[in-house]
Amino acid sequence: MKLSRILSNQNGVSRKQASALIAAGVVTIDGIACREAAREVDRFSTVTCRGNVVQPGEPACYLMLHKPQGYLSATADKVHKTVMELIEPSLHKDLHIAGRLDRASTGLLILTNDGLWSRRLTEPDIKIPKVYRVTTTDEITPDTAKRFAEGIWFEFEQLRTSPAQLELLGAREARITIFEGRYHQIKRMFHAVGNRVTTLHREKMGSINLDDCLAPGASRQLTETEINSV
Ligand code: URA
Repeated sequence: MKLSRILSNQNGVSRKQASALIAAGVVTIDGIACREAAREVDRFSTVTCRGNVVQPGEPACYLMLHKPQGYLSATADKVHKTVMELIEPSLHKDLHIAGRLDRASTGLLILTNDGLWSRRLTEPDIKIPKVYRVTTTDEITPDTAKRFAEGIWFEFEQLRTSPAQLELLGAREARITIFEGRYHQIKRMFHAVGNRVTTLHREKMGSINLDDCLAPGASRQLTETEINSV
């Protein structure tokens, strides 16, 4: 919401008065004076006017979870256990998943209550790399890397996937980097080249690596550096 709007949402403050207060330099965002009436302010920022709190910033939450197999990437489900069961209940409010993993997939799962931030991480157009280790039923053929680099046609969405990188680690094992996060994307890409994924583990999103210290099922808050990297 614009700064002037936050101020004028206060009883008795008109838009004009809000702009005047902002221009006078008596309005702060997170402790720093802001003279720009049109500045966009999220709900996590604290806004004051002449020292009085106009908007108390809500606490933002950014978590990484080492997702184990068998948990659904959802906040609630009637049948399956969800990843929320692995997160401390006091942190649940407004939490959503920034880039789901299939129930059988494991590895880095990021949860947050900051929708603008998570959109930057997952928006296909922004093309943040997501790195996975994959094992397959059949040997990965020499032309697989080339096919993935050219992009795979997804009939249902009527689109070609962004060029993906494949690094062979063994006959049936590879590291794959994709730049979107479409439904069952990696499984469908291998299916398109006549192979099948048996295990899938996410190692990294952007420059956020799954912490080696986290056992399956464990989580921790992201560091400032990790949050700011997105
Ligand atoms: N692609 C898949 O097919 N599954 C996942 O869980 C993630 C990417």
